[in-house]
Formats: sequence, C-alpha cells, structure tokens
Amino acid sequence: MSLIILPMAENQDMARSLAHHLGGEIGHLEIRSFPDGESFVRIDSEVRGRHVVIVCTLDRPDEKFLRLALLAGTARDLGAARVGLVSSYLPYMRQDIRFNPGEGITSVYFARLLSSQVDWLVTVDPHLHRRNSLSEIYTIPAVVAHAATAIGDWIRENVSAPVVIGPDSESEQWVSVVAERADAPYSVLTKKRLGDRNVRVSDAEANRWQGRTPVLVDDIVSTARTMIAAATQFREVGFSDIVAIGVHALFAGQAYEELKGAGVGRVVTCNSVSHASNGVDISPYLAAAIRDLVRTETLDFHSPVAS
Ligand code: R5P
Repeated sequence: MSLIILPMAENQDMARSLAHHLGGEIGHLEIRSFPDGESFVRIDSEVRGRHVVIVCTLDRPDEKFLRLALLAGTARDLGAARVGLVSSYLPYMRQDIRFNPGEGITSVYFARLLSSQVDWLVTVDPHLHRRNSLSEIYTIPAVVAHAATAIGDWIRENVSAPVVIGPDSESEQWVSVVAERADAPYSVLTKKRLGDRNVRVSDAEANRWQGRTPVLVDDIVSTARTMIAAATQFREVGFSDIVAIGVHALFAGQAYEELKGAGVGRVVTCNSVSHASNGVDISPYLAAAIRDLVRTETLDFHSPVAS
C-alpha cells in the first residue's frame, strides 16, 4: 500500500524530511477559513486505497485539533485505507492527575478524542511522568521516537567539557541517555512548581562542576521558568557559558527572549515544533518509528496487499 504524506500548515519542512527518509509522496491539500471562521478542507491528491500520513505537530492544540479532525475525516471519506498522524509534539500530557479538587484530567480526555480521529499516532518524547506508556490512555497504536541520541550527538559536537543537567527528577529518564551519548557526566535537580510561572529548583551543587559547561536539558520549554531557575543556580556561582536544550520549543509569550536574557548563551531545540531555536533534527528518528509502525499496520490489517 503506498504512502501519501499530507502536511498541515507549518509542517511542510518536517513533511519534506519525512518524505526524504520514507520515500513517500507529499500530497496537496487546501485548508482555509470561510468568512464566518469555519474551516474549508479539500484534498487535491488521490488518497483512495492509500496509507495517509497526516503531519501536524500539535503545539497550540486548541487551534489545530478541529482542522486535523476535519482533514482525517475527509481522507477517510475519500477512501483512504488508513489514516495515521505524525504529531512530533503531543500535547495535553502534563495534566495527568487531579492536582486539586474539581480539575479535569485532560490528558485522558484528549487521548480519547485523538484516538477517535486517526488510526495510529507517532510522536517524539511525550511527557510521560506518572504514566509508563501512551497505551494507558490511547486506544490506537502509538509509537514514541526519542530525541536523546540526537541531542547527545549535538552536545558532543558543539560543547566542550559538558555536564548535562536535568532540571527535575522526571528528566532523569532522558538526561541519563543524553549524557551517555555525549560522553558527559550528569546531575538532576529537584524542582518545585509553585504556579504556572513560579518555579524553584534545589541547590544544584553547581560548584562541583567548575571547569565544565552546564547543558540544561528538558523535554518541554513553555514559560522557560524551569530552565531560567536552573540557569540561575549556575550563573550565581560564576558560570558564564550555559547552554539550554529543549526537545519541544513551545515558548509561551516572551519565554525565548527571557531565557536568552537569563544568562543562557545558547538555546537550542529539536525541530518537533518549528522555532528559530531549532538546531537538532529528529526527523530520521521519527521516520524510523513511522516505518516500523506502517509496516506493522500493513501486516496486521492489510497483509494480502502489503507491498
Ligand atoms: C515538566 O514537568 C516538564 O518536564 C518541563 O520541565 C516543564 O513543562 C517546563 O515548563 P516551563 O518552561 O513552563 O517551566
């Protein structure tokens, strides 16, 4: 079954990279707003009988989700055999428990919604904290690609004498892999979030790493308060060269500028969310995950016509 890649707005670069790695065709589509704000969707390429791969990273998901659902519905209606989604950033993963009475566990509700729209999902380093796997909340096949190898390679090639710093205990799972790949030691801080924009991290014992370059690594940079709090620990004891690497560049409001203004010389992110700071290409890892999943899907569901 042949693949056709359908990129939604601002996902063309990633779609081109994936097409390069996977060998699939990039399809043409039009999505625009009617004057009343509702969306118009048209697919101009043949999808009948084909395996459709929608590329849409879901940062700012509230603006994007409905259009994604409308596009998936259109592809299915036009005869697509399977409709999968590559969302290199998977949103709504952090509200995974009821922290306070009355709150919604939105990670579960969003997983339910997305699972009802597409046949499978491939993503990069979703924020799995209190859950071990996406299959605990997603009912469709969901495969995770990891950015740790690519980040470790970037550090090895670009930073002299690095020490990899994870800002909180959750980060140890990927920071340890990044550090091993970068051939560097690592340390993990303790974080306490007091509000959306109020974060404290423990004493980093930063002096212990004099002579090295602290490389802060986190999965998500949103308000950048976590990165700024961690950077402050090092700046206050005299480190002048501090590097911050985030997987997913969400950067709410002025967060990017604020992080750069907080004494962090280099801010680098993966291209899971398109941003000026993108410096680490995760498309080969994403493509490998898609290839595995499509192969499995094809065998599971369409073995007589698998090509
Ligand atoms: C939290 O658990 C994540 O791993 C990140 O540390 C967090 O999302 C970063 O958020 P912010 O940039 O708003 O501090």
